[in-house]
Amino acid sequence: MSALIVVGTQWGDEGKGKVIDFLSEQADMVVRHQGGNNAGHTVVANGKEFKLHLIPSGVLYPNTECVIANGVVVDPVVLLKEIEYLHGQGVRTSRVRISSQAHVIMPYHIRLDGLSEDRLGSQKLGTTRRGIGPAYMDKAARVGIRIGDLLDRERFKERLTRVLEEKNRLLARAYDADGFGFEDVYGQYLGYGELMAPYVANTSVLVNAAIDGGKKVLFEGAQGTMLDIDHGTYPFVTSSHPVAGGACIGAGVGPTKITQVYGVVKAYTSRVGDGPFPTELADTVGEKIREQGHEYGTTTGRPRRVGWLDAVVLRHAARVNGLTGLAVTRLDVLDALSEIQIAKAYRYHGQEINELPDSIEDLAEVEPIYETLPGWQTPIGECRRLEDLPTPARRYLDRISDLVQVPLALVSVGRERTNTVSWAPLF
Ligand code: GDP
Ligand code: IMO
Ligand code: MG
Repeated sequence: MSALIVVGTQWGDEGKGKVIDFLSEQADMVVRHQGGNNAGHTVVANGKEFKLHLIPSGVLYPNTECVIANGVVVDPVVLLKEIEYLHGQGVRTSRVRISSQAHVIMPYHIRLDGLSEDRLGSQKLGTTRRGIGPAYMDKAARVGIRIGDLLDRERFKERLTRVLEEKNRLLARAYDADGFGFEDVYGQYLGYGELMAPYVANTSVLVNAAIDGGKKVLFEGAQGTMLDIDHGTYPFVTSSHPVAGGACIGAGVGPTKITQVYGVVKAYTSRVGDGPFPTELADTVGEKIREQGHEYGTTTGRPRRVGWLDAVVLRHAARVNGLTGLAVTRLDVLDALSEIQIAKAYRYHGQEINELPDSIEDLAEVEPIYETLPGWQTPIGECRRLEDLPTPARRYLDRISDLVQVPLALVSVGRERTNTVSWAPLF
């Protein structure tokens, strides 16, 4: 039995796609279990770049089964486009399965996401405007439309009639905005249902059967721990559970089946969207890292905010996810720096604290306590074994592991699948 959950430990974009693709060579199945097309996961294989939003990053391996489980919110337009895009790249998708219980992102969710952000003005959350929050709101309010509903004309008609009337009233009265015509939406989404039908399955059964049958199953987290609706910087979070526990709920798998949890750690920190970020660099060093690391959003193209690595955030991630290994990525982006800093704790109202404060208002007031380590100032992209890395780079990695009290599992030193340092069987 081997079930490995891979989560982001920071604010997303840690390089989960790269790590999942690397691990997928050994996997029989890769499962997405939360989030939606707010995620943008990049994989570079044999010089070719793939940007994935919904389909698991294991799809590039011809024999790996790929599951979009019940906890994901699916925009059918994006999913079908992604399938078409992959076919155009010569990638087969016949091994993709989608849960009939996954909720559908409807056009009113997307419109409401944008209108709500516009109304918030300077208080906006900086969402991806993909309808993620409104879709999860409807799921919790028990008025969501699920993939399975799109495959049943009568059931869909009944549910859509009820919900669309209310959404149209909300759009008109709360936002003075246009609503949607029933026939348009009904016809269009029935059509999407037909196109998705060959992929639809009871994915909890599939995933459990794979684990019980001794297959190697990878769970691909989207977003990151600090964007978790419970364990992140609320309200500047997403509306799902990117933490490891979210994989169990979002895939219908019991916690006793999980064997390992790896946390993907970007060698510095980035954040796209609003909200507090204690180690943010608003100077030329930050600028240098952004340019060196091409830190622009995969989904929205927005410039990402960047800062030093934050061990307080990582310890929080280690605790709430129960991390058993760290996958450190983008170490090469720091190649040119003469000095690198890590926040090992915070100062808050004159006191040294080692844990995140309870609220974002308090988090906005902390001052990071840094320790400085020497840089290596040499390219490391061709390193493949730990012993190939320059001593200062190894010291930096060891210090991260030490501060977080979680062993290193692998190190990524470039975008390509092959730019990876690994030294032991990973699962
Ligand atoms: P994800 O959302 O966690 O999958 O991360 P993204 O794909 O949104 O952003 C990570 C970016 O970093 C992508 O452009 C990757 O190709 C790139 N990347 C991943 N690992 C490395 C690495 O070790 N070095 C460099 N230079 N780039 C990397
Ligand atoms: P991956 O999987 C980085 C951020 C948004 C915003 C907040 C809420 O590529 O790491 P939402 O649209 O989810 O309601 O936006 O969450 N966000 C991400 N930031 N990477 C992501 O995904 C993200 N998905 C959402 O920028 O701050
Ligand atoms: Mg991303």
